[in-house]
Amino acid sequence: MQSKDLLQLAEQFGSPLYVYDAEKIKSQYNRLTKAFSKVEKLRINYAMKALSNVAILELLRDMGSGLDTVSIQEVLLGLHAGYSPEKIFYTPNGVSLEEIEEVNAMGVQINIDNLSILEQFGAKHPNVPVCIRINPHVMAGGNTNISVGHIDSKFGISIHQLPHLVRIVENTKMNIVGIHMHTGSDILDIEVFLYAAEILFDAARNFKNLEFLDFGSGFKVPYKKDDIETDIEELGKKLSKRFNAFCTEYGKELTLIFEPGKFLVSEAGQFLVKVNVIKQTTSTVFAGIDSGFNHLIRPMLYGSQHHIENISNPKGKERFYSVVGYICETDTFANNRRIPEIKEGDILSFRNAGAYCYSMASNYNSRYKPAEVLWFEGQGHLIRAHETFEDLIKNQISLPLPAKV
Ligand SMILES: Cc1ncc(COP(=O)(O)O)c(C=O)c1O
Repeated sequence: MQSKDLLQLAEQFGSPLYVYDAEKIKSQYNRLTKAFSKVEKLRINYAMKALSNVAILELLRDMGSGLDTVSIQEVLLGLHAGYSPEKIFYTPNGVSLEEIEEVNAMGVQINIDNLSILEQFGAKHPNVPVCIRINPHVMAGGNTNISVGHIDSKFGISIHQLPHLVRIVENTKMNIVGIHMHTGSDILDIEVFLYAAEILFDAARNFKNLEFLDFGSGFKVPYKKDDIETDIEELGKKLSKRFNAFCTEYGKELTLIFEPGKFLVSEAGQFLVKVNVIKQTTSTVFAGIDSGFNHLIRPMLYGSQHHIENISNPKGKERFYSVVGYICETDTFANNRRIPEIKEGDILSFRNAGAYCYSMASNYNSRYKPAEVLWFEGQGHLIRAHETFEDLIKNQISLPLPAKV
C-alpha cells in the first residue's frame, strides 16, 4: 500500500479513517507459524481484543487461525465471523460464574483465572475440560498497564498457590486440559519467555490429562524504522526445542498455543487524519487534527509513540510540531516531533494503528467513530462505515416531559 493509495482512500472515504493491510496480517501470521514449524501441533489464537472488526476476523479464520476472546460478546462476534466453537478460547478476568457457564454451554474452551470460580465451576461441572491461567510472577512488558504477570497483577492464579489449585482439582475431580500464562505486552527479551516457559512446564507436571500449553503473547513489534522487536525466529528455535523436549518427558504430543494481538495486526494498520489547524504559539507549532483520544487513546494511556508521516508532503522540509487532537482535554499525540512541513488540509498517517486503536475508540465529546477500510488484493474495501447522528442517539431514551410551548 503506497501513500498515493492512502491519499485516495482518505479522499474516497473521508477522514479520520482506519486502513488495514491484509497482506501484512497474512505475512505476520505466516512468519509466526514458520518460526514454530518444528512443533508438531501449533495453534495461533488471534487475540481479537486488538482489532475486532468482523472482516479481520474472517480473514484470519480463512488462514486457519483460532480466536482468543475475553468476553461473551467477543465470543458471539467470533461465532458470527464463522469460527466454530472449538476454535475459540475464552480467557476472561473477573467475570461472573454465570458468564463462564454461558460461554461453556456454547462449546468454547474456557480458561479460569482464579481459585474461587475454579472451585465453584469444578463442583458444578467436573467433566468439562478446563484450562487454568497461571500467574508466573515474571515482571515483563513495556508499561505497567500491560505488564500482567507480576506479583501485584490481578491476572491469573499465583504460581505460589499451586498446591491449593491442585487440591481443588483433586477434590472436584475436574478435567484440566490446559495451562495458560500471559505475562504482558511488548516483551523484548526472549529469555523472559523462556524463563516463564519453565515455570509453566513445572506447573504442567502436576496435571496428567493435558492437551495443550498456552504461552499467551506479548511479542514486541517495531514502531518505527530500526526499532527493536522480539526476535520471533530465535524464540521459535529455542522455545520449540524446549517444548518438544517437554512433550517427550510428559509422554504426549501437546499443542503449543500462542494468542498474539499486536504481532498480527499492529503494523498492518494506519490511521489517517486531516490537519484542521496550524497554530503557532510562543512555545511550539501545533498541528490540530480532526481526531483525538476518542479515536486513538494509546499515546495518552500508555505513552505509546506512533510514528507520524505527512503523506501529503512526504519530501517537505522537516520542522518540529506538537500534534494534538480536537478533544476538550489535552490530547497530545506527539510532542516536538520532526515531521515534513505540515499545511492545513494535509493528511497525516499514524503508523502501528492496527492493534488497540479502533477497538479502544469511544464517542467521547459525542464524536462519531471513524470508518475502517481493509486493503485487500490491491483494493480498499470498506469494512465499517463511519457513524452517523442516528448511531449516537439510537439507544438513548428521552424523558416523557411535557412539550414546551
Ligand atoms: C490474555 C491475553 N492474551 C493475549 C493478549 C495479546 O497481547 P499482544 O497484543 O501483546 O499480543 C493479551 C493482551 O492484553 C492478553 O491479555
